[in-house]
Amino acid sequence: MNKAELIKEITKLKIAKNAVVLAHYYQEEAIQEVADFVGDSLDLSRRASETDADIIVFAGVHFMAETAKILNPIRKVLLPDMNAGCSLADGCPPEAFKAFKAKYPDHLVVTYINCSAEIKSMSDYVCTSSNALSIIQSIPKKQPIIFAPDKNLGRYLIKNSGREMVLWDGSCIVHEAFNVEKLFNLKKKHPKAEIIAHPECKEELLKFADFVGSTSKMIKYVSESAAEAFLVATEAGILHQMQKEMPTKSLIPVPIEEDNSCACSECAYMKMNSLEKLYNCLLMESPEIKIEEDLRQSALKPIERMLSFA
Ligand code: 13P
Ligand code: SF4
Repeated sequence: MNKAELIKEITKLKIAKNAVVLAHYYQEEAIQEVADFVGDSLDLSRRASETDADIIVFAGVHFMAETAKILNPIRKVLLPDMNAGCSLADGCPPEAFKAFKAKYPDHLVVTYINCSAEIKSMSDYVCTSSNALSIIQSIPKKQPIIFAPDKNLGRYLIKNSGREMVLWDGSCIVHEAFNVEKLFNLKKKHPKAEIIAHPECKEELLKFADFVGSTSKMIKYVSESAAEAFLVATEAGILHQMQKEMPTKSLIPVPIEEDNSCACSECAYMKMNSLEKLYNCLLMESPEIKIEEDLRQSALKPIERMLSFA
């Protein structure tokens, strides 16, 4: 089937099966177009918890679909490619994290949503890049904190909250790859462009950013800023919604370290999903996210604490 036929069939299947397609901003354009809702990790978790659709097709990565299942266990949650992981989640194995946590028995654990259900079950709070700073700031100053698994987001939070935290040594392979020198060269060519970045980027890049925020907040910033051009330091999939919402603004992706061919950076995990895999998974109702009930219950608590946080 070609692209148009796939879109037509997916649309038919969505109605026939009472299914909803939730997509992250890093998904390929056609998937964003066929989705019922496109958003950042926080928006998508909220949508997943509220939907009364029988099937949730999660066009994102594994930890996102798993969070949807934790929040709404009576729905069938499908992920078009079960191998769509995340370097942050993969870089924080439960046994190693358990041993790490045991070294700091009086610390409260705040984890970034980009981790497995097992890590969430060992956490007091889950957060996303949208609410991490407010959550950290709400914790009494005397209370020591472990933050995992993203050390770059962790450093950004330390800098902006003034709180010392113990950090797990993890990072996002995509956001770590942005090249600051290439960013400077771009800025010379576009001196009026504002630099906007995701907090998963390294500190050496974030310190030059005019704005730092989650994917949704970056889109909002572009729509509200008086600037006409932006140097965008996050996964290239976001450019689709950004350009759609702000067709007159100029959006320039920040190049990555090893990048000789194209100017953009893509998450190989996010891009494992395709329109064809989305169609097949909706048709076959597989691959499906399953989670053991005890684990789900304990991972749910810190996620609910986050969602109840205004
Ligand atoms: P957002 O919550 O900002 O959408 O980030 C998700 C993510 O995986 C960033 O790499
Ligand atoms: Fe994980 Fe980075 Fe991909 Fe986001 S962009 S899903 S943090 S590897």
